Amino acid sequence: MSQSRIAIFPGSFDPLTNGHVDLIRRAARLFDRVVVAILVNPDKEALFTADERMAFIREACAGVAPAGHIEVDLFQGLLVEYAARLGAGAVVRGLRNTGDLEYERAMASMNARLAPSIDTVCLLAADEYAYVSSRLIKEVVSLGGTVTGLVPPCVEAQLIARLRKG
Ligand code: PNS
Repeated sequence: MSQSRIAIFPGSFDPLTNGHVDLIRRAARLFDRVVVAILVNPDKEALFTADERMAFIREACAGVAPAGHIEVDLFQGLLVEYAARLGAGAVVRGLRNTGDLEYERAMASMNARLAPSIDTVCLLAADEYAYVSSRLIKEVVSLGGTVTGLVPPCVEAQLIARLRKG
């Protein structure tokens, strides 16, 4: 019996970087369906709305995998409960450095305790994106630096419009 392998790629994506896009593309080679799931957290102020973040992901990921392999969604609450509702067996996360490893290890262990049937799969970030984070991207753009090549063009344009006005 064959079952489709569904993975969730969760995150804040405020905003999406090319490091995220690379991980989504690679995850789509490993799984039949990858759901990029944006955490909607009313307690955390984001630069971009959930709908804007969703639109960036849709635009940047169009064509990175065969049609239907990548979906974009929003979620609230516990990740493992959302993953179980979708029938996902894996949560995909990227690792850039040892700091990420400690953070991911704690989340993976907690998620495994909550839902033993859902595994966390960590992919090593590509060398060229190992230093890229959404936080650093926003800081650099707000201070007038360029992030061309580190974020999708649609994201870069909106970062400049949002952070450099006034
Ligand atoms: O891109 P981020 O901000 O590092 O992503 C963190 C995210 C969204 C994966 C994590 O905060 C999460 O899963 N939040 C949902 C709430 C939850 O399940 N918390 C328990 C995690 S152990």
